[in-house]
Formats: sequence, C-alpha cells, structure tokens
Amino acid sequence: MKYVIGIDLGTSAVKTILVDESGTICAEASKSYPLFHERAGWSEQNPDDWVQGTIEALKEMMSEAGVPAENVTGISYSGQMHGLVLVDEQQEVLRRAILWNDTRTTQQCEEMTAALGEQMLSITRNRVLEGFTLPKIRWVQQNEPELFQKAALFLLPKDYVRLKMTGQAHMDYSDAAGTLLLDVAEKKWSEAICEAFEIPLSLCPPLVESTAQTGTLLPEIAEQTGLRAETPVFAGGADNACGAIGAGILTSGKTMCSIGTSGVILAHEEDSTRDFAGKVHFFNHGKENAFYTMGVTLSAGHSLQWFKETFAEKETFEEMLEEVGSIPAGSGGLLYTPYLVGERTPHADSVIRASFIGIDGSHTRSHFARAVMEGITFSLNESIELFRNEGKRVDTVISIGGGAKNDVWLQMQADIFNTEVVKLQNEQGPAMGAAMIAAAGSGMFESLEQCASLFIKEGERFSPDKERAKRYKELFSIYQTVYDQTKSINQQLQSFRV
Ligand code: XUL
Repeated sequence: MKYVIGIDLGTSAVKTILVDESGTICAEASKSYPLFHERAGWSEQNPDDWVQGTIEALKEMMSEAGVPAENVTGISYSGQMHGLVLVDEQQEVLRRAILWNDTRTTQQCEEMTAALGEQMLSITRNRVLEGFTLPKIRWVQQNEPELFQKAALFLLPKDYVRLKMTGQAHMDYSDAAGTLLLDVAEKKWSEAICEAFEIPLSLCPPLVESTAQTGTLLPEIAEQTGLRAETPVFAGGADNACGAIGAGILTSGKTMCSIGTSGVILAHEEDSTRDFAGKVHFFNHGKENAFYTMGVTLSAGHSLQWFKETFAEKETFEEMLEEVGSIPAGSGGLLYTPYLVGERTPHADSVIRASFIGIDGSHTRSHFARAVMEGITFSLNESIELFRNEGKRVDTVISIGGGAKNDVWLQMQADIFNTEVVKLQNEQGPAMGAAMIAAAGSGMFESLEQCASLFIKEGERFSPDKERAKRYKELFSIYQTVYDQTKSINQQLQSFRV
C-alpha cells in the first residue's frame, strides 16, 4: 500500500494526516502554537514554532501509524494565506510573521489604493486590503527599514516550513495570488507593482504549480520525523484552495462553505476574465489554470472560540452548544455581527467591531451561543448573496470545517443560505486537499479530479425548511442594517482600544 501526507498549517495549529491510496486516513496528529497580539489589530506568529510543530506532528503520526517510511510517496502542504515571512541571505527569519488577520496596515492600504488602486485591481484581481501580503511588506519597509534592508526573500507561512524541510524556496500560484504582487491571469510576478512600491523582484520567490515537486526532505528532517530523505515534497497551496480541493470543488457549479478561524464562501471559476470588480476575492486555484472566487468572514470559528473562552472556558464545545437546537431560529430577537477583528466581505473595514443587539432579560447563554452561530452564518450569506447578484447559481453548498461538525449549524446553513447543504464523510478540510496534491503530484493519480472521485465521499444532506428560511430572510435584512448603524459608533470607540 502507498501513502501520502498532507500538512495543514493553520492559525491555531498544524495538522498532519497520513492517507492511503484509497483515501482512508490511517493516522493523524496535531500541534498548536502561540499567537501574539501585542497591540490592538496586531496578529503575529513565530515561524520557527510552525516548523517545530510540524516536525513533532509528523514524528508522532509516523510512529503511531507504523507504516514503512518507503511506502510514503509524497508530502504536500496547505497553509494559512497572506502571512508575511521575511528571511535573510542565510534563510533565517528576520522577524515574527505578520498574519492574515493583522490589521495594522490601513494607512499603507489607503496610500497604495490612491497611488495605483485600479491598475492593481486589473493585475491582481483583488482590492488592496489589510490582510494581504503587500501592505505588510510596505509596513515593514516604512517602519523597520533597517530590518527590511536585510531581507533577501519574502515567503508565505507554508513556504517557510517547506524551505526548512527541504532547503528550497518556492511559492505556488494559489498562495502567491493572495500577496497582491501576482499578475493572476498571466501567472507571473507583476513588475509594475514591484517597481511602484520599490520591491526588488529578487525578494519574490520562484513560482510553481501546486503539484510541482519542490525537492526532497533534508536528511536531518528525515531523521527527526521517521521519514526517508528521498521522500518527494510537492509545493501545495493556500488553505482555501486546498479546502476546495479536499471538498471536490474542481469544476464550476459547486460552492464551498468553510468555517475555520475565518469563514469563506468559495466557488470554482474557469474563466480568468470573469470580473467581480473586487467585491469578492479572485485567486488562482491549486488546480492548474483554474481560479476561484471567494468572500471572507474574518472571525467565523474565531467568534465561537472567543465566546467559549470568555463565557464557557471549562466546557467542551459540545457542552456549550447542547441547548442551541432548542432555541428558536432568530435566537429570540438577539443578533450578533462577527466583527471581532474588523471585516473583509462585504465590508472591507478594519475598524468595525462586533455587536450583540436586542439583548432581553429572558435570554440565556444558549441564546447568545445560537446568536453567534447565526451571526457568522448571516455574514457568510452576504458572500452568497454577492455571488447570486453576479449571476452565479448557488444551490448546493459543501460545508467543511467547524461549521460541519454540528448538525444544528448545518441545518442553520441550509435555512439561511436557502440551499441544500452537504457534509462530507470523514472530512479533513485543507489537510485532505494537501494530501490530494501530493497524490496527484507523485503520480498516484493522473489528476486531482481522478483522485477526488476516489477520495471524496458526500455524506448527509440538509435541506432548507420553508418556514425557517422565510424567517431568516426577514432577519437577514435586519442583520444587514447593523453594520451601517454601528460603523460610526465603532470609529468613535477606536481610541479606547488598547
Ligand atoms: C483568506 C484568508 C483566510 C486565511 C485563513 O483570504 O485570509 O481564510 O487563509 O487561514
């Protein structure tokens, strides 16, 4: 039997899975690492914590699996997107990584949009937003010029881990698309953007396809993990691209809802000229010459995680959510907007913050928990609405991540999105997409599609309930007014944040 390994480098943890050629998960391991929020809006991680966590997870997984190392035919990666890692000539990190959910770069975004906004949109197919990599590079250029002088290369999170495991630096198109430096349709670094913002082209790593082989394991990594140094390593992709591959979103027609720390609504696109005018993101897929369009809720799973840590620290998620199914749709008139760290889609706003509106003396903690789940789902529904308004048909949604682990939440998605919602059997999120890239890259399958037909099995379906869908439609219109009504309040509150 042959095996492949998928590594998913997330924001809260790294997860590794060992998958056999029939798509069965034979072993898995996970290691978490710290997140640093030194100032309001800042979000950083130590890149070497990712490397250490990945090595430990691989070691634990391989020793538990008891599978001969020579039967592992490939390793690949899925990574949290957009995070800036700067390395010097010796390939050592120069500072902590500035992550996708760090919002310190509003000033840089405004300056860049004023200087080159429309041209950037036509080249990169995306608006200049705090989360993307280029504004972070600008921030370092302007605020830490001496450190920037030492930078020889910029990388994204999974590319740094791969560099430390193989000694080779690369970036795949799906992740490069989230930097705001890639000409998305032409699949090359944009010289015009680099020149406009004084970024030497030499700072940009060589570009490759997700399924391209990018070396083998360094002997010391092989020794530490229990793998062979000859094991082929494949580039991998952005976590959302990998989530889509792992959910079988490889042709047009299906839409994915993924709820991790962030939440995304994602649809496949074949046509590189399709224009959403920057209202939603438009990125290269992990599948060659394909694209996807996506709306992002910054604090999706993060909202529920925050709620649990703050109000139910000693309970499990299951305990905390035990009663939510008996709370009526609409949480008794309690609404939540999930703007804990600002928002991306449809309101690109780093200053807005979350609200609970309509608190009544009769509300219990379960009303609040349900309102949080509904607020996250309403926010994701804003992206579905944008897709529908642009003429995309959304009638089946494949749900993955935290939102697919709870049947009440799956039914809520069906009712709020007013679509069929499907969960997958044995869903593994982006880690499975990474394993599938390794399987296709190593020749275990001819294509990602062929691999998907064997690895991905649809599970239970949830259909919208007519009455609840109608109630939610009314409530969604009210939800949509909360942003405008709380915008100026949050601007005034900004100076009180620490
Ligand atoms: C996508 C985004 C997030 C991260 C989470 O644009 O910023 O979904 O990829 O890891």
